[in-house]
Formats: sequence, structure tokens, C-alpha cells
Amino acid sequence: MLELSSAPVTSLYVHVPFCAQKCSYCAFYSEASSGELINRYVNALVGELEMVASDLKPRTIFFGGGTPSLLNLRQWEQILRSLDKLNLLGAEEFTVECNPATVSADKAKLFRDFGINRISMGIQSLDEKLLDRLGRIHSREMVFKSFDILRHAGFGRVNLDLMFAIPTQTMEIWRATLNEAMAMQSEHLSSYEVIYEDDTPLYEQLQAGEFAVNEELACEMFEELISCAASAGFHQYEIANFAKDPEHRIQDSAFNIPSEACQHNVNYWRGGSFYGLGPSATGYVRGVRTKNWSNTQLYCDQLEKGRRALESSEELPPLRRAGEIAAFGLRMNAGWPFEEFKHTTSFDLRNEWTGEMNQLAERGWAIRNPDRFHLTRQGLRFADAAAEMFLR
Ligand SMILES: C[S@@+](CC[C@H](N)C(=O)[O-])C[C@H]1O[C@@H](n2cnc3c(N)ncnc32)[C@H](O)[C@@H]1O
Ligand code: SF4
Repeated sequence: MLELSSAPVTSLYVHVPFCAQKCSYCAFYSEASSGELINRYVNALVGELEMVASDLKPRTIFFGGGTPSLLNLRQWEQILRSLDKLNLLGAEEFTVECNPATVSADKAKLFRDFGINRISMGIQSLDEKLLDRLGRIHSREMVFKSFDILRHAGFGRVNLDLMFAIPTQTMEIWRATLNEAMAMQSEHLSSYEVIYEDDTPLYEQLQAGEFAVNEELACEMFEELISCAASAGFHQYEIANFAKDPEHRIQDSAFNIPSEACQHNVNYWRGGSFYGLGPSATGYVRGVRTKNWSNTQLYCDQLEKGRRALESSEELPPLRRAGEIAAFGLRMNAGWPFEEFKHTTSFDLRNEWTGEMNQLAERGWAIRNPDRFHLTRQGLRFADAAAEMFLR
């Protein structure tokens, strides 16, 4: 199996568990915090990097969160210098997630100087009232300003995150946001329907009957997203991800991956190995899935004692892992080429999952070609339910 090779792991995710303020919908592990804890986290992260560096040769690095751009220049410099010292710089794709309120020209320059070449910026909406309702700390003007700062600093690869089906969002508001976002001419777009996560203020408001979910409108908004993105030159390559393709890589690739796609996430959806560092991060290396403690104090305590901060470490039975890989890959428009799946997992979709594939095809949710299996547009809308059928 490809993924069990002893070659160094080529993908690194780092979780930064801090935000200036929690947004009303968000369940990612992050908290508003003092400078002192952030300093402690940075030291602990450097320690964790040192522990895994000898098994890493990153082709993709992704700093996500939380809000990685919340760290100040000095903290970022410490992290980037240690990556350099550990020989971990030089990735083909190095992404940092930013909140528009925390982008500055100095930070953007520092990022460029150390080889960060992709920024993912959370904007969610360009409607002032909705931004406020979501508990975002930035205005629409800040989105445009930060985008300009990034372009000026030389970032030629920028992703914008948008959300739709936000309570009180009408189709007109969604269209206006989409049109303005397209006019920014980013290389990549991620757009998720709002998920009502337990224990978030938005979920509580829903439970209290303050608004109702309009499933039909959500479907129409998803359709609008797909057609608007297509007219602006984006190719959808995963349920919620769209990328441009100026190099026309899409023509000759078996996977139909546009050239501006996020390679880090593609590796993840294709079941590749990756280290996951920082509080709450999961990793998957050679058949073993790890999860770090979702508690920044505890994470720091452990690393200060010279131990990794693992809450769990589990070797997955091969068939279970193959089922998960099947499920992840089906999120992608290209689905699974049978040979590629076999190469990755040593299982054959055509043997293990024939019944499931036929059922989905009969329902109109999927298409089984001689060389691959993939979901249809309708199937992508219900991808979570479809994917679940593959889990063993
Ligand atoms: C870690 S955040 C991005 C960076 C930065 N923290 C920010 O928000 O500006 C990742 C993205 O996940 C999406 N997201 C988070 N919670 C969500 C939810 N409950 N439903 C849908 N999308 C969500 C948002 O689009 C968000 O931009
Ligand atoms: S959406 Fe981004 S800024 Fe908002 S709480 Fe979640 S991680 Fe933090």
C-alpha cells in the first residue's frame, strides 16, 4: 500500500487554537486568549515540530485554526525560524488561514519571505448585517483592504471562504455577495452551507425557535453558487471547493483537479498520510490515526514535559481505513478511479462495495463508469449520507 511506505510524510497540518472572538456558528477548537498562553503555545509547537521533523519532508503545509493570522510578528517569526532550522521549509504549497481583521502588510511580507505562498481568508459574507449576526470581527471594507494587502505582498494564490443559508440571508443578498466575491478574482473559493453545530449560539437560537431552516432555499443557493462560480471561471472539484485552472491541468489529469486546487486538502481527501500538530489536531500516518488533546493548557503541559500531547492513537484495521478513504474521496467531483483506489488501499471498490455503488447509481446519486465511480450533482448534495454507506 502506498500509504504504508516508510518514506517521510509529505503533508503537515498545524492547528492554531486562538481567535480574537468566537463566531456564533463555529465549533472549531479555538478560544479568545491572552498573549501569555499564545507564547506558551508557540514554544510547545516548536517542541512538537522537533519531535516529528525527522519523519517529515513537507510538500504541503497548512496552518489552520482558529485564526493563525492572530499570532503577532514575533510569534510567527519564531515558528518560521524553527521550521527553517528543522529543514521543513520549501513546501510546494504553504497555506495560512487568515481572518481579514488580522492581516497586515508586515505579516504578509514575513509570510512571503519564508515561503508561504497561499492564503485562505475567511470572509463568510459581504453583507454588513450578516457579518454582525455571525459575530465576525471585520467589516466588508476590511475584506477588500486585506485582499489588496495580500496581492501587494505578492500572494498569487488566495482562497476565499463563504457561507450560505445563513439565517435571514435572502437569495438577493447571497447573489450580491457571490458577485462581489467573484469580482475579487481569487484563485480559489470554498463555500459551505451553515452547519448548526452543538453548543454554538447559532444552534441555541435555532433550538429556541428564533428562526427556521429553509431547506429549499439552501438548495437553490447551492445551485446559484455552482453556476455563478462556473461563469467566473471556477471548476468545482469537491462539494464545497472551486478552483481556477489557468494552466489547463484539468485536460490531462485522471483526477480532473484544477491547477489552483488546494493540494493539501486533495491529499487528505485521497487518503494520504499527514502529521497533525497543535491542540485538537488529528493526524494520519502509515495506518495510525492520532488526535491531540483539545485543551491548549494540557497541550502545553505535555510538551513542556517533553511528550507529545496525544489524546488517542489508533491503528485502523485496513478495511475500515479503506472505507473511510472511499468516503472521503467521494466528496470530490472526480470520485474514485478504481485503479487509484486499489493502489492506495489494496482493496477493490468493485469487489467490496458493489452493492452500495449499485444502490447509489439506481437512486441517481452516482455514476459507475468502467474506470471510476463518482457522485452526480444530486449525490454531492447528499454526500454525507452516500459516504456513510462505505464505512465498515
Ligand atoms: C478556521 S475558519 C477560517 C479562518 C478564520 N478563522 C476566519 O474565520 O476568518 C474555517 C472556515 O470554516 C467555515 N465554517 C466554520 N464553521 C462553520 C459552520 N458551522 N458551518 C459552515 N461553515 C463553517 C467558515 O467558512 C470558515 O471560514
Ligand atoms: S470561524 Fe474562524 S474566526 Fe470564527 S471562531 Fe471559527 S475559527 Fe475563529
